[in-house]
Parts: sequence; structure tokens; C-alpha cells
Amino acid sequence: MHTFNGQITSKLPHAGTSIFAVMSKMAADHGAVNISQGFPDFPISEKLIARVNHYMKKGFNQYAPMPGVPALRKAIAKKVNNTYGIEYDPELEITITAGATQAIYTAISTFIREGDEAIIFEPAYDSYAPAVKVNGGLVKYATIKPPDFGISWNEVKRMVSNRTKLIIINSPHNPTGSLLHEADMKELEALTRGTDIIVVSDEVYEHLIFDGFKHQSACLYPDLMQRTLVIGSFGKTFHATGWKTGFVLAPANLTAEFRKLHQFTVFASNTPVQCAIADFLEDEGNFIYLPQYYQAKRDFFTDAMATSRFRMLPCHGTYFQLLDYSSISDIPEMEFATWLVKEHGIAVIPLSPFYQSQLNQQLLRVCFAKKEETLIAAAEKLCRI
Ligand SMILES: Cc1ncc(COP(=O)(O)O)c(C=O)c1O
Repeated sequence: MHTFNGQITSKLPHAGTSIFAVMSKMAADHGAVNISQGFPDFPISEKLIARVNHYMKKGFNQYAPMPGVPALRKAIAKKVNNTYGIEYDPELEITITAGATQAIYTAISTFIREGDEAIIFEPAYDSYAPAVKVNGGLVKYATIKPPDFGISWNEVKRMVSNRTKLIIINSPHNPTGSLLHEADMKELEALTRGTDIIVVSDEVYEHLIFDGFKHQSACLYPDLMQRTLVIGSFGKTFHATGWKTGFVLAPANLTAEFRKLHQFTVFASNTPVQCAIADFLEDEGNFIYLPQYYQAKRDFFTDAMATSRFRMLPCHGTYFQLLDYSSISDIPEMEFATWLVKEHGIAVIPLSPFYQSQLNQQLLRVCFAKKEETLIAAAEKLCRI
């Protein structure tokens, strides 16, 4: 091992290893069934793989244009128009990124300066706050609470100041499986009207929505759309999280600023994958089945858990289910999750790391984007507890 002898002043002194890496390593070390990290354990479409192969063999292996392969940007524009009835200009308003995480990081870095404030709803996906802090911004946390994890818009109103630069929303929501509804979007639209606040709307689970609910994309609300960067992920939509390909939809002047940073962070993302996804998007059969598909997985898992002492919280979207273990134990979440891996061979994610205060509520997050055999094995272990 080698060590740098100079002084290092960390820009993120409190950042440790992410809980996902910690739990997945623990799962591997103990040979546990792993329903912790959010990725599918089933194969992706052979057709999609064949398209990537095709483009690789045809020589599409060099840099893509900085904003993304034109065919993919056009295919996204068509899909967004068909799905939401909203037009984005593929030349000026759509950018392909190396996954949603890069899109989020670049979006935040584009607009947050020293002393600016960003409002984040926690529990939150773990990349938002560090991106704000690294850019010298201050995070203001609005807490959303069980059972429905709804937003108190009065609380948000009180948090807005003349330093508020960004509001970051996420629906369907990781880790809670809750949704923002039309009333929420209208509140946000009214709250930001007449301000310079920019909204980052993380919509990576746009197609993973159940029980007849309709995804309320920020692009559906005209005043909101004008101030929003909508972020999507093909990793989620096509079960290929390792491909790290995402996109950003935003008005032309916001896109122009976003691209100034995008070109110096990744410049462009994977060419053959972009070409393949462009073809794959042509057939909407490749994604419109997703709500039923994942709803069936959720129901399969909750049915298998029927006799367990864990209480299931409502889940209307994403591929995450929250489990309440308060009738089993009152030990803190991290301790309980560690005990589950070591003593029962099942890896889950405690909810507390999704809060800056590490709030403990006896809640765990599991991922049901798994093969039936994995879900059965997991439920069997959990039902024994
Ligand atoms: C809410 C949310 N946003 C963004 C991402 C990252 O997406 P990507 O893998 O495309 O970077 C995830 C992945 O878990 C997520 O849950």
C-alpha cells in the first residue's frame, strides 16, 4: 500500500463507504441472499444485447457527439411526446449522460455556487447532498415521514429563502416507494412561480408505477417544465444498471449551461449502447409492460411474506419495499440489518443512512427486482424471524 505524505483537506470529510457497498460486501462474505442493492438479478433483453453487438461490429466504437447520439435524442423526444404529450427539441433540449447519477451531479454542479441553498426531501437517494456540498452549497432537508411519506408544502415554503437555488424532487421515490401526485406538482409549481429556483426532477423510475397511478412528470406542468431538468435512466428502464446510460430533458438555456459542464466531466457516453437503445425505444412494447411486470413482482414478494412478522408499508412505485420490524425488535436499523445478514443469511438495507440525522424508525428497504427464486428464498428467511 502507498500513502501520500502531504496534507489532504477532504471536500467530503463525512462521506464513508455507501451503505449499498457495505451491505453487498457483507452479503457476499456471509453467503447471504441479497435483496439489498437496487439492481435486477434477471437477464436483460437478448434483442437489446444483439443491437449493442451489431453496432460494435459495425464500428460504432468511437466518441459519440457530446450531447449524445442524434438517433437516441430523437427517439427520446418521440417517446416523451407519445408518453406525456410534451415536445423537447432533440438538438437543444435533450442530453445523454453516463447514467442518472452523472446527470444529477452535473445538474447540481452547473447551478450551485458557494452559499447557495438546495432543498432535498429525505430520506433521499444518496448522491444529491454530496453534490451540493462539494460545490459549496448548503443543503436544507425537508423530512418526509411514514406511512405515506407525503411532503408538507407549508414546511417547504418556510424553507425557501433568497438563497434557494435548487429544489430536488424524486418520484417514484427511492427508498420509500411513494409518489408525488398532481396536487404536489401544483404546489411546487405555485411555490416556484416568479422565482429563479431551478428544479431537478429525478424520474428514473418513471415506468415503475403501480396500482393504476400515472407518473406525474415535471414536464406535464408548463410553468414547472420551464425551470426543470428532468432526469431519466435506461439502466432502470431496461434492467441494465451496469450500462450507466441516462438522459436529461431541459429547456434550451438550462441545457446549454448543463452541457458546458457535461463536456468537461464525461464529454460523451457509450456509443454502441446509445445506438442500440435508440433502436429499442422504437418499439414501445419494450417498456410499456413495466408497470404490470414490477407490480406482479411486488405482489409476489408481499404474498410470500404474508406470514411474516414484518409489516409492509405501502409501495406504489420503484422496485423497493419498506419493511417495518417494530414488532420484532427495537434495536437500531444498522444493528438489526447486520444481525439479519450474519444470523439469518439475508441482506437488506437499513433506512437510516438515507437521512443525514441517521434517523431510526425500525424500517428496512428491500429490492424486489429479483427472480422469483430469489424472492422466495428471501421471504422464507424473513418469515422465520
Ligand atoms: C432515485 C435514483 N436516482 C438515480 C439513480 C441512479 O441511476 P443511474 O444508475 O442511471 O446512475 C438511482 C439508482 O439507484 C436512484 O435510485
